[in-house]
Amino acid sequence: MTRIGVVGLGYWGPNLARNFDALAELAWICDSDSDRLGAFANRYPQAQATARYDDLLNDETLDAVIVATPVPTHYELARKALEAGKHTLVEKPPAMRGEEMDELLQLAVDGDLVCMPGHLLLYHPGVQKLKELVDAGGLGDVLCVYGNRQNLGIIRKDENALWSLGVHDLSVVLYLLGEEPEEAIALGRDFLTPGVEDVVFCYLRFPSGKIAHMHLSWLDPHKMRKITVVGTEKMVVFDDMELERKVTVYEKGPWQRAESYGEWQTRSGDINIPKIPTDEPLRLECEHFLALVRGDGDRQQVAQDGAMVVRALERLTESLGSR
Ligand SMILES: NC(=O)c1ccc[n+]([C@@H]2O[C@H](COP(=O)([O-])OP(=O)(O)OC[C@H]3O[C@@H](n4cnc5c(N)ncnc54)[C@H](O)[C@@H]3O)[C@@H](O)[C@H]2O)c1
Repeated sequence: MTRIGVVGLGYWGPNLARNFDALAELAWICDSDSDRLGAFANRYPQAQATARYDDLLNDETLDAVIVATPVPTHYELARKALEAGKHTLVEKPPAMRGEEMDELLQLAVDGDLVCMPGHLLLYHPGVQKLKELVDAGGLGDVLCVYGNRQNLGIIRKDENALWSLGVHDLSVVLYLLGEEPEEAIALGRDFLTPGVEDVVFCYLRFPSGKIAHMHLSWLDPHKMRKITVVGTEKMVVFDDMELERKVTVYEKGPWQRAESYGEWQTRSGDINIPKIPTDEPLRLECEHFLALVRGDGDRQQVAQDGAMVVRALERLTESLGSR
């Protein structure tokens, strides 16, 4: 059974520990905060508990390390894990700069190791349905994709809305379109904490001509977790706030009647609500990681997809800062 060590037992790490305890052997838990560590040492008595990350790296029988610490620590911890020959699942984003991500990618290739970013939303069955619809071609030509991730709060002081909220939508937009943007522009304002943008609008343009937009904000009256894909034949909405209609497919689109001499008209047909499984996305993410560790699937693809997200984030950040 794959032996797993989880580092970082704050808000998110315990969810990873719970899943890996069920799916594999949770061999180590690690947190630099002794209170956090103590609480989970009681919950997982079979796992060795330590505040020293190196203890995990020095255990030759440990197969993989799961990094769930704050974002600025990801690159360093992931690099050390890969250098120690451990497969690595790193919370999103695994690095804050494209160069750092390239280094992680190279280490993974050199060691034939998994370096998987924790892009949770990609494992959401609703997003999987979006991907299936886009790839099957039934939407016609996809013209644009836009994401809404807004709410009132949680107001963060260390990470802006782009890094805190945008990573999710960006990973989905790039996954759906399968292209690297040639243009990435972000506009935003730091209303509450100087230097930390609370409201960010992003625009991406792709080599194929497709465009994407993301509205990211924690200063908003609407709680929205929505991604819309506009195709020439159909349009689809994934709405994670909905309980029963996570995905809605609209048979709507533009069309031209032969006798109308190029004039555009619109058409509206059926609205379909496909059944979406209720599987826990995090469980699916952990299962995918374990499958890659076993050698099933393309190990390098997940790291390359993660690198594309980091590069786009970096360009959006530069654009945000330059304004
Ligand atoms: N996928 C998701 O939906 C999702 C949701 C929430 C958070 N996250 C990600 O999970 C990560 C952690 O977020 P969080 O909200 O749990 O943070 P947190 O601050 O609540 O917890 C981080 C924990 O890491 C520990 N830590 C920090 N540096 C360490 C080190 N060098 N060695 C050992 N322990 C260390 C801290 O003591 C703390 O307990 C972030 O990257 C965040 O983006 C992902």
